[in-house]
Amino acid sequence: MESMVEVRSERVQQSIQGVVIQRTRLKLLFIPVFTSILVWACLVQLWHMRLLSGFTRVTKASVRVDETVHSTTPRNYTSNGFLQVSCNGGLNQMRAAICDMVTVARLLNLTLVVPELDKSSFWADPSNFEDIFDVRHFIDSLRDEVNIIKRLPKKVARSYGYHPVVMPPVSWSSEKYYLQQILPLFSKHQVVNFNRTDTRLANNGIPLELQRLRCQVNFHALKFTQKIEALGQKLVHMLQQRGPFVALHLRYEMDMLAFSGCTEGCTEEEAEELKQLRYAFPWWKEKEIVSDEKRSQGLCPLTPEETTLILQALGIEKNMQIYIASGDIYGSEQRLATLRTAFPKIVKKEMLLDPEELQQFQNHSSQMAALDFVVSTASNIFIPTYDGNMAKLVEGHRRYHGYKKTILLDRKTLVGLLDLHHNRTLSWAEFSAAVRQSHEGRIGQPAHRRVIEDKPKEEDYFYANPHECLCESARCEGLDNSTEVR
Ligand SMILES: *[C@@H]1O[C@H](CO)[C@@H](O)[C@H](O)[C@H]1NC(C)=O
Ligand SMILES: *[C@@H]1O[C@H](CO)[C@@H](O)[C@H](O)[C@H]1NC(C)=O
Ligand SMILES: *[C@@H]1O[C@H](CO)[C@@H](O)[C@H](O)[C@H]1NC(C)=O
Ligand SMILES: *[C@@H]1O[C@H](CO)[C@@H](O)[C@H](O)[C@H]1NC(C)=O
Ligand SMILES: *[C@@H]1O[C@H](CO)[C@@H](O)[C@H](O)[C@H]1NC(C)=O
Ligand SMILES: *[C@@H]1O[C@H](CO)[C@@H](O)[C@H](O)[C@H]1NC(C)=O
Repeated sequence: MESMVEVRSERVQQSIQGVVIQRTRLKLLFIPVFTSILVWACLVQLWHMRLLSGFTRVTKASVRVDETVHSTTPRNYTSNGFLQVSCNGGLNQMRAAICDMVTVARLLNLTLVVPELDKSSFWADPSNFEDIFDVRHFIDSLRDEVNIIKRLPKKVARSYGYHPVVMPPVSWSSEKYYLQQILPLFSKHQVVNFNRTDTRLANNGIPLELQRLRCQVNFHALKFTQKIEALGQKLVHMLQQRGPFVALHLRYEMDMLAFSGCTEGCTEEEAEELKQLRYAFPWWKEKEIVSDEKRSQGLCPLTPEETTLILQALGIEKNMQIYIASGDIYGSEQRLATLRTAFPKIVKKEMLLDPEELQQFQNHSSQMAALDFVVSTASNIFIPTYDGNMAKLVEGHRRYHGYKKTILLDRKTLVGLLDLHHNRTLSWAEFSAAVRQSHEGRIGQPAHRRVIEDKPKEEDYFYANPHECLCESARCEGLDNSTEVR
């Protein structure tokens, strides 16, 4: 859709936007989520107005970014040294980190070595950068910003005996930290290796051109390999042919449950198994966890059974296709029984594709996750049951692609409502009205990120809502900061 829009004149663009908005409105109407038609109509009007400005923003951002993509002259700067990075975490955590690291390299005039991906995380995926991302496109499309090389030149490595400075930069840092603390290291050592990369750059207070570069990397320079993209698009087409679909990121996977200590709905044996797993992994530091307390604070992923009730309460119809965008569900097929009864058109990639097609990705959890990323980004509605990195990165992509609907579940409120419904304090009608009402402002509409001084972890995450890339400052003024309280 974007590339179509880019090549056309301003006037034609506007009419395309009109069509897209019409379609979006139809989609919004297609799945009636709110009880009152009156309230609904008003909200649609309101969003229509927001979407209208939203689309202009998206187009502008894409055009701006694309000019640099097509540039043929590399940026001419004197490199201050080489930056090597070893990313840690799963696919989406690493994706955000790569965007940050390119930005740091640009700020400090460094030569970046293509990032190394984590092979020792829980997922133990042996994939390299080029197995997941189109490395040629990554290097070429950023050449106007930063020089990226595939490996450290032998000459450089030898000149100081293969011993780079290895260190983790301080998390949530500003550009001042990198200029004042990190840059001087390069005058002494030619190579610095960052051995942790998650959340090393602050969400807020970063100069606009650097924020925009983070977006350029995220939305344009990082493309999945042809192999992943093609199979992902095949899944999308298969689903679209059968009608609209919800992508449900059902984060009820073993690692999530073990790490979070959430055992709601598990048998005693299962709870014990999860606990053993947690104790076995040194980097999951929090060991003694009271599941009920965490759940009531909204810190647990919803169970498949809880998710079923929430989807029904939100008005998702029984015949809607639900694509499960997740790895293996803990407790396997049995744990999906309730959800499948309520929504018979549940599908997973394993059901849509031949085993041979998926085989090449088996044992490569990041490549599997990449397929789910493609489908989740393209879905009519995206609903994550936990706000991990995948949920956040997909949310950001959906905002960028025209504020496609993402339902951001308020788990703390929801578990309270679920408990009241379970003990019959709330009837179904009361329960579902309360669920809908509490999510009216949580569908990924235009909003400012929430800024919390000195508590970067609690702020809205840059990559979930990179609002600087979705609007020009003058146009952002009208946005109501309170629309998304998270
Ligand atoms: C890059 O800039 C330097 C100094 O400004 C100049 O001497 C050099 O010719 C430039 N190189 C290219 C390829 O433009
Ligand atoms: C990076 O290079 C540009 C010129 O291309 C220069 O203006 C800027 O001061 C340099 N910054 C650093 C941190 O070296
Ligand atoms: C990163 O490097 C530092 C300093 O060399 C070391 O103490 C730390 O254990 C390393 N961390 C990782 C995750 O490798
Ligand atoms: C994946 O790994 C398992 C065990 O590590 C192995 O048995 C299986 O053959 C592998 N599958 C593929 C497709 O490589
Ligand atoms: C239902 O649960 C809520 C809190 O979980 C409690 O305050 C309330 O008294 C319970 N009602 C009944 C009828 O058990
Ligand atoms: C929203 O927040 C931004 C920055 O956090 C601020 O500049 C802007 O004035 C705020 N807008 C409103 C309507 O409060």
